[in-house]
Amino acid sequence: MKLSPIVRFMTNSCLRALSQIYIEAPLLRKMAAKKEYPLCLEIGCGRGIGARIILEQFGARKVIATDIDPEQIERAERGLSAALKDRVEFRVENAMSLDEPDGRFDAVFSFGVIHHTENWRKTIKEVARVLKPEGEIFFMELLKSVTRNSFLVKISQYPGGGEFGLKEFENALAAEGLKITGLKHIADIVALGAARKKR
Ligand SMILES: C[S@@+](CC[C@H](N)C(=O)[O-])C[C@H]1O[C@@H](n2cnc3c(N)ncnc32)[C@H](O)[C@@H]1O
Repeated sequence: MKLSPIVRFMTNSCLRALSQIYIEAPLLRKMAAKKEYPLCLEIGCGRGIGARIILEQFGARKVIATDIDPEQIERAERGLSAALKDRVEFRVENAMSLDEPDGRFDAVFSFGVIHHTENWRKTIKEVARVLKPEGEIFFMELLKSVTRNSFLVKISQYPGGGEFGLKEFENALAAEGLKITGLKHIADIVALGAARKKR
């Protein structure tokens, strides 16, 4: 779903970029089983900081960076340096129905996206489908203490659909054959982690 103006402003702010680069990426990198993930998919790429992180820190040769919002895709394309442009394919796409064959990607990244989709279980199913056997998903997600908080829901105009707690999220991953291999969380507020698809 498209972001409200306030969430869009926060998503495109430099504070968000700093958190992604200096907090989330290093934590996720430590959870990674492999040094290199040649072909990666990013869902909900926003302004494109994630694509750069994936190329530079996860040894990707190519990243397909997708977002449902064409304006975010344009912003991400504008922001990418010329040196990295050949290695990123930006595409407007819904994470709940990816135009990709089964088992294509070495890794899929969701920096704060699954909880924004209208049907979070469907998104997890789709991510699991496009991962190779033993492929990994890396995620940072806000949990139900945030997504169900009435004040935050009101100011962010969050329309709902992606509210889950940590246990529900873990169970939904497991139901799609994705086993948690790394996890850091603060209560039911935020979770960062990695999960691997069964062979
Ligand atoms: C909170 S922003 C995060 C953006 C970026 N990943 C980051 O970490 O800054 C959520 C992003 O997910 C996108 N989004 C929301 N629903 C989506 C869907 N169903 N499919 C693909 N992208 C979606 C939004 O347009 C937005 O760019």
